[in-house]
Amino acid sequence: MSGIKTIAFLAAAVWSLSSCSSRQDMEPEPQAYSFQVPAHFPQPVFNTHNPMSREGIELGRKLFYDVRLSANNKVSCASCHDPKLAFTDGERFSKAGVSGTALHRHSPALFNLAWTNNGLFWDGGSTNLESQVFGPLTAHDEMAQNLYELVDELNAVPTYVSGFENAFQEPVSSQNVAKALAQFQRSLVSAGSRYDRYRLNQTGGSLTSDELAGLTLVRQKCQGCHTGELFTDQSYHNNGIDADFSNMEHEGLYMGRYRISYDLADLGKFKTPSLRNVALTAPYMHDGRFSSLEDVLEHYSAGVKPSATLDARLPASGLSLSAQENKQIISFLHTLSDPDFTQNPEHQKPQNF
Ligand code: HEC
Ligand code: HEC
Repeated sequence: MSGIKTIAFLAAAVWSLSSCSSRQDMEPEPQAYSFQVPAHFPQPVFNTHNPMSREGIELGRKLFYDVRLSANNKVSCASCHDPKLAFTDGERFSKAGVSGTALHRHSPALFNLAWTNNGLFWDGGSTNLESQVFGPLTAHDEMAQNLYELVDELNAVPTYVSGFENAFQEPVSSQNVAKALAQFQRSLVSAGSRYDRYRLNQTGGSLTSDELAGLTLVRQKCQGCHTGELFTDQSYHNNGIDADFSNMEHEGLYMGRYRISYDLADLGKFKTPSLRNVALTAPYMHDGRFSSLEDVLEHYSAGVKPSATLDARLPASGLSLSAQENKQIISFLHTLSDPDFTQNPEHQKPQNF
């Protein structure tokens, strides 16, 4: 446990105060969850209205993998967010939803969400994990679920009835579905890559000379946006993949952050994705347009398209990286893969389920 800060939730204590007076049949109280903050990470941001508990996370994990959450009982969150791929799906645009129609955005990775403090989705169109859940749950091309039916379906399963009671001391409700899913997703922490072991001087943490050269280049050229140990500044930038944002197809999705803020300065800006696990999450960008890291580096080197909102950190002519520098950056990016995260048994589909 050395080098790890622990945040214990006061959940159990608070719940016991509020429930003792009113409840005769005492359920076991939810167990406070010790959230372990990696030593080199900043402090996370928690939702005080939804304290994490072991029971809440376990319930959220079940729900995440449960096809009952969809209208046709065939689609789960994991259909588009697979733990082996750092919770992406390897597709440019998923067709895994109930309608079978391709989505217009690429499925992002899910990890280190306890640090997300500036909006979810590629354009920040959702404010927190609790409300985000209702997006995919009810969207026609994703899970298309009627929330009343969902509550009925879950109520028909005795282990869910007791699971909600144990986690929230309340019956099944769509609100508590969202809270449990949010708790599970906040528990997904990726900080165990070879780079992390290097950073923390731990055994197994050596980097080759090419990887070290790549790290230096990433610090110089990329960390203005892919900042700090989370490898994202959680902010919105135009990284020059497009110069024309007039295409109004698909509800103006190409306009990026502008679609949410209506500020012209936000045209074509998208949320900086983390570079952690990036070797596992192809294809790349909000629309999955690049199929390999080589293509991404080719873009930053020489493919940047100038426009009024192009970020000042990127020269209009691109970063002019040499072929060797591109290779070094890519070899460094591979050190950010975290097999302890993708194979963590606590994140997989529960057994006997
Ligand atoms: C059919 C595929 C599909 C399904 C099913 C699906 N998602 Fe997603 N998910 C996506 C796509 C695509 C996006 C990006 C949408 C955007 O940015 O406009 C996304 C975005 C997200 C995000 C935002 C992440 C971030 O960093 O911004 C979270 C969290 C998330 N999904 C969780 C879930 C949960 C929980 C479920 C189940 C209730 C779920 N998803 C079901 C495809 C899917
Ligand atoms: C000006 C800010 C900025 C700089 C500098 C920058 N990036 Fe990005 N990067 C972004 C944004 C924003 C996106 C998402 C754009 C989108 O989806 O349309 C992104 C996307 C990516 C992706 C795709 C990740 C995914 O999950 O789809 C990779 C890989 C990447 N950048 C690598 C790099 C590397 C390597 C460098 C340095 C050579 C770099 N970036 C420099 C802002 C930046």
